[in-house]
Amino acid sequence: MLEVKNLTKTLPNGRRLLDGISFKVKKGEFVGILGSSGAGKTLTLRCLNGLLKPDSGSVIIRDEHDRPLDICKINKRELRRVRQKIGVIFQGYHLVKRLSALENVMIGKLGQINTFRSLFYGFTDTEAEQALKALDKVKMSELAGSMTGNLSGGEMQRVAIARAIFQSPTLLLADEPISNLDPSNAKTIMKMIKPLSEHMPVIGVFHQPEMTAKYCSRVIAIKEGKIIYDGDPKLSNKRLEEIYGEELELIEQQEHLLAAIAK
Ligand SMILES: Nc1ncnc2c1ncn2[C@@H]1O[C@H](COP(=O)(O)OP(=O)(O)OP(=O)(O)O)[C@@H](O)[C@H]1O
Ligand SMILES: [Mg+2]
Repeated sequence: MLEVKNLTKTLPNGRRLLDGISFKVKKGEFVGILGSSGAGKTLTLRCLNGLLKPDSGSVIIRDEHDRPLDICKINKRELRRVRQKIGVIFQGYHLVKRLSALENVMIGKLGQINTFRSLFYGFTDTEAEQALKALDKVKMSELAGSMTGNLSGGEMQRVAIARAIFQSPTLLLADEPISNLDPSNAKTIMKMIKPLSEHMPVIGVFHQPEMTAKYCSRVIAIKEGKIIYDGDPKLSNKRLEEIYGEELELIEQQEHLLAAIAK
């Protein structure tokens, strides 16, 4: 369970970047965050894993002993410990290209094993086996030994998901995980992310309302740092216009184009 309460962030010039963001997400939910460019989606996600401290508000998660912890208030050491249990998938993959797919998955746990072992990449056989299982879940075990730099965009994104799975997180965050994938790969990735929400709350930022309608259990829309919608993932055209304004036409054009390419 994740509880976000009243996050605010204001620039010195008075511009409100986040303006009272509040929501709760339970295990079993796959929440898609939508909103036009600059709305505050990434800033919100950054607050959720402690990369950004809001001016006020709190982000409450449960630690391994089921005690509530406010990510915005804990010290750096505690934050490091908590972040090991937050899986993050980024648009740009954040993978080390010169390492193999398997090594990239294992890196996800470096923060969790002791420093001496991690200095020598000292993973146990059991850990290697679990990393392979994670790759198998995203249908990448055959490419486990391939150099990551040689993989396609879709394959790299699957490695990034395997890395998050291997971390056995209690919360999964994804910032535009399908943005630079073709429609078919984007669907594959959505199908792989969705079932993970059975084990933990999953929150993803997307620019494709048709994808969140199909795969997410709930949609939150942010505009100018405020939540303007929180509910059913299927959005009416009127709602989409409210969320995207003039950007909507551009999105529709892109979707037509992508659909034409996919055929
Ligand atoms: N460190 C910063 N200093 C000043 N402004 C910032 C900073 N970080 C983000 N912003 C501004 O805050 C606003 C929200 O940024 P954010 O990255 O959350 O947008 P977003 O909704 O993720 O957009 P996109 O869809 O383009 O990724 C933007 O206008 C951005 O320029
Ligand atoms: Mg963003």
